[in-house]
Amino acid sequence: MDTVRIGVIGCGPMGQGLAKAAKEFEFVRLEAASDVGEKVLGDFCNSIGGKPFKDYREMIRNVRLDAAIVASPPFLHREMVEALADAGVHVFCEKPMSTNVADCDAMIRHCEQRNVKLMIGQVLRYHGIPARVRELVKSGVIGAPLCMIVRRIWGGFGTSWGTSWRTRRKESGGNLMEINAHEIDFMRTVCGDVRTVMAVGVRHPHSTLDFPDATVVSMAFKSGAMGALHSGAVSVIPSFGGRVDGDQGGIEFPVIWGEGAGIHVKTEKETKFIPAAEIQVENPVKAELRGFFAALREGVPIPVPGAEGRAAVEIAEAAYRSIDTAAAVALPLG
Ligand SMILES: NC(=O)c1ccc[n+]([C@@H]2O[C@H](COP(=O)([O-])OP(=O)(O)OC[C@H]3O[C@@H](n4cnc5c(N)ncnc54)[C@H](O)[C@@H]3O)[C@@H](O)[C@H]2O)c1
Repeated sequence: MDTVRIGVIGCGPMGQGLAKAAKEFEFVRLEAASDVGEKVLGDFCNSIGGKPFKDYREMIRNVRLDAAIVASPPFLHREMVEALADAGVHVFCEKPMSTNVADCDAMIRHCEQRNVKLMIGQVLRYHGIPARVRELVKSGVIGAPLCMIVRRIWGGFGTSWGTSWRTRRKESGGNLMEINAHEIDFMRTVCGDVRTVMAVGVRHPHSTLDFPDATVVSMAFKSGAMGALHSGAVSVIPSFGGRVDGDQGGIEFPVIWGEGAGIHVKTEKETKFIPAAEIQVENPVKAELRGFFAALREGVPIPVPGAEGRAAVEIAEAAYRSIDTAAAVALPLG
């Protein structure tokens, strides 16, 4: 495939970012876009390009596409991915892959049966600090990882996300999917598959969410390592960072991006700090699309296939089950 003709479904901020990055590849032609919001669709097509369609099924029926970007709210990902696969269109689908594991399984099966490639937008993999942390751990510099802690916390004084679908778990998957699909994927790609999940959650008295605002998710990895994710919208002092302790050293990344971002590494041989400025990476959204298009054009493997997106959803779903039942939840989910 020389030219890749693409369509975009969901023209919000993420659809716009992906479309702009896709257009930077000279072999990409943005043919069409779809959104139920007339203004957002009009603005998208006027400023970025593509023929506008209010109904994405009409776009699929009327435009010849090689690939499509799905950047709609998560509860719509399954029906859109399946409709695209039915038309033989390869799909780049935003995270979270869907709002539950059953949907993810159906999406994977559907794409496999129609011989269509499916990639999930776990873009944190392409950000400098997480990518370097993973690389360092995989290089064995701190030995075998024993414990990984990640916190991604934010909040105002009782405020939540503005977009309405983000306040409802059925539509967003809850923060553990909608936001922390990234951190869960990060922890999984550093420490390996998860055996058991145990979680607790709390609600802010002014919460507008129909799921816990803040959660602590502990994970027992198959390797024997343990992990903890602190996620939440109740922290007026925001923070995004973490650490990995290995049996021969440790890594701390107090801040993942912005001021003070960098990585401390301590082993018996050395103690060093790698500032974020020394970790140069391509625009992460462009980098993930580069991998997607390479899979389409050169036949290399999809960098983040459906199974990887599913794994993050499964851990988050297990965490919510654990919160609801106050019990540990073993994977795979039955
Ligand atoms: N990778 C990241 O870092 C990152 C960041 C932000 C969002 N996202 C993901 O991207 C997706 C979209 O997020 P967003 O912030 O752009 O959300 P958004 O709500 O701002 O935009 C989504 C768009 O989808 C449109 N839409 C809804 N129903 C539709 C339908 N039936 N057909 C066509 N369009 C429809 C909405 O009108 C809206 O314009 C979500 O899955 C989100 O988790 C990823």
